[in-house]
Amino acid sequence: MSQSTLFWNFFKQIEGKLQHRGTTFRKIFEHIDCFSGPVMIVETGCARLKGNWVGDGCSTVLFDKYVNARNDGSSVTTVDLSPQAVKVCKTLVSDKVKIVQSDSVLFLHNFVKEAQIKEICVPLFYLDSFDLDWIYWQPSAIHHLKELTSIHGFLKPETMVVVDDCMQDADFVITEGKVSFRGEPKPGGKGRLVAEYAEVVGANLEFSAYHAGWTGFNTP
Ligand SMILES: C[S@@+](CC[C@H](N)C(=O)[O-])C[C@H]1O[C@@H](n2cnc3c(N)ncnc32)[C@H](O)[C@@H]1O
Repeated sequence: MSQSTLFWNFFKQIEGKLQHRGTTFRKIFEHIDCFSGPVMIVETGCARLKGNWVGDGCSTVLFDKYVNARNDGSSVTTVDLSPQAVKVCKTLVSDKVKIVQSDSVLFLHNFVKEAQIKEICVPLFYLDSFDLDWIYWQPSAIHHLKELTSIHGFLKPETMVVVDDCMQDADFVITEGKVSFRGEPKPGGKGRLVAEYAEVVGANLEFSAYHAGWTGFNTP
């Protein structure tokens, strides 16, 4: 049995509980599986509540399970502003997860400088900090665009950037009771501005559901 198989057996048990994130978490781990050697998964916004598979996704717990199954020196680094979230997260994961208490934009800015020097392989940036208000979405979306700004120079074409809480948005008009959409639905919520930027620079939208994920930033 390969190391990856150990993880996938666990994932199959938990996939149903992940509900609207299940299919895209599967795509995320399939993506990371394509990278050989030790990798580092980098996350903003750590798991803050035990067993909250549906509400938040418990991403840090999943990433921890994954790097433990790989058992090849892979690790997770996560950052959260809240001392309480950091405290809880430390009880949920193994020592393969480094949990930093900081503002994520500042943390990422410093992280990539170090990662460049040490040539750390990061197949995934999982951006899930600043909680979203679905009506007043702008502050969260701006924060996630700032996170992208901090890491952008470090991204390789094969690096995946995923933003959580990106349920699709679409504009529509109603004329004489008939609804017509204006344009295609696009990632909304936390990733709305990341999506606008990604589209302009020609990044590849790999999936858009409750998660949105892109590769192909900085393609030559
Ligand atoms: C939705 S939760 C993360 C959930 C987690 N990824 C999971 O799947 O269980 C969002 C987290 O972002 C943190 N946060 C909010 N603003 C932040 C900031 N500026 N920098 C870092 N973390 C922040 C909050 O403290 C909160 O714990």
